Amino acid sequence: MLAFHLKATVLATACLMLASQSAGYTMQEMCAQWSGSGYIGNPADCNSWGYCKSQQLIGYGTCDKDLVYDSFTQTCQPASTTKCSTSAQKTCSALKTAGFVADPSDCSKYTYCFGDGTSKTVSCPAGQTYAANNNTCVWGPTCPQNSICRFMPNNIFVGDPNNCGQFLHCVNGYGRWGKCEKGQYNAATGYCQESYSCSDDDTSNNSNNNDNPNLPPSSITNCTETEDFIADGATCYGYYFCNKTKNGVWGSCPLGLEFDEATEKCVSPASLSCPGNRCANTNLTYAVVANTNCTEYIYCPTGGKSYCNPEYPYLDEISGQCVPTKPKYPVCGPQET
Ligand SMILES: *[C@@H]1O[C@H](CO)[C@@H](O)[C@H](O)[C@H]1NC(C)=O
Ligand SMILES: *[C@@H]1O[C@H](CO)[C@@H](O)[C@H](O)[C@H]1NC(C)=O
Ligand SMILES: *[C@@H]1O[C@H](CO)[C@@H](O)[C@H](O)[C@H]1NC(C)=O
Ligand SMILES: *[C@@H]1O[C@H](CO)[C@@H](O)[C@H](O)[C@H]1NC(C)=O
Ligand SMILES: *[C@@H]1O[C@H](CO)[C@@H](O)[C@H](O)[C@H]1NC(C)=O
Ligand SMILES: *[C@@H]1O[C@H](CO)[C@@H](O)[C@H](O)[C@H]1NC(C)=O
Repeated sequence: MLAFHLKATVLATACLMLASQSAGYTMQEMCAQWSGSGYIGNPADCNSWGYCKSQQLIGYGTCDKDLVYDSFTQTCQPASTTKCSTSAQKTCSALKTAGFVADPSDCSKYTYCFGDGTSKTVSCPAGQTYAANNNTCVWGPTCPQNSICRFMPNNIFVGDPNNCGQFLHCVNGYGRWGKCEKGQYNAATGYCQESYSCSDDDTSNNSNNNDNPNLPPSSITNCTETEDFIADGATCYGYYFCNKTKNGVWGSCPLGLEFDEATEKCVSPASLSCPGNRCANTNLTYAVVANTNCTEYIYCPTGGKSYCNPEYPYLDEISGQCVPTKPKYPVCGPQET
């Protein structure tokens, strides 16, 4: 290893350094960069997950046997159809379809799964790294899939663990690096703040972290009824379909819709009052907080909570504007008479 290291080019050395950093992230380090709350994958073990809140890791657990945690859907999914994001060999031993997977511990390599449990690992040409998003070896010192975003929910902003005060926009498991126009990115609030100066030992605040998250939805459950759709109890958009043998199989409403257990249909988020994360599975920029009469909302890109103004105190979630009277959508609660 040492001999190789000494012979390696500058580019390859940079790559190895990045690769070892990737393997070194802990879930606590990931949570510390995120102002929002929700599930993350464990970079050390594809079967397990954590739950972040207020920049702390407040819960963790393991999916049922034969399931792996999928950061993209934030659910436990069958290993036969889901890439294990922590081990190429483990992915290939379970995957039933052929395809390429990145090697998370070494960005200069990639692995081809034959779809029958076997695999072959190949090295990129010297100095190149494997880019999983377009399945090629590319020049450059950075490893595209080496990002805390790889194990985090889609479409969130997090602090860049390697550049205090700068941020990553997590999109489909990749981190798009960004810098504030003014001030620095505060991972605690999820905003760029002029008055804020980042320091590497910024962590929050253990206050109000006693609530335990539910388990993320497993892809299967036991039902009491048959031929029935039930809410998954963990997300606003997931449901189980209970078949004739009372096995519930998890499914997700189309993007932009939430699951309504009363009608067993996927409906507009404003027509329900789901208390869970209403920014998930939606392209809403501003999502009302349930049970606040539409007076509080979340700015979805950062997860930051906010209020309208005294003259226009209510958020109309569908138009995305603050309005003077309470909108009639069910999410805003009962109308005053
Ligand atoms: C593939 O990666 C190369 C190098 O980063 C980039 O120039 C190219 O645009 C990528 N292609 C796609 C389809 O992302
Ligand atoms: C901890 O959080 C509370 C409530 O959000 C806040 O008032 C307080 O200033 C925070 N403390 C630190 C040290 O950040
Ligand atoms: C379903 O019920 C069976 C028998 O009680 C139990 O062994 C199994 O773990 C349950 N599965 C789930 C996903 O709860
Ligand atoms: C119900 O779903 C389970 C789990 O996917 C499956 O094993 C079982 O065969 C299904 N039963 C019927 C009658 O479709
Ligand atoms: C959000 O999704 C809906 C339904 O797919 C679409 O009609 C709307 O244009 C989208 N809005 C934005 C801002 O992308
Ligand atoms: C919402 O409005 C109703 C009726 O005006 C009121 O009783 C209730 O306390 C309000 N809830 C909140 C959280 O403000």
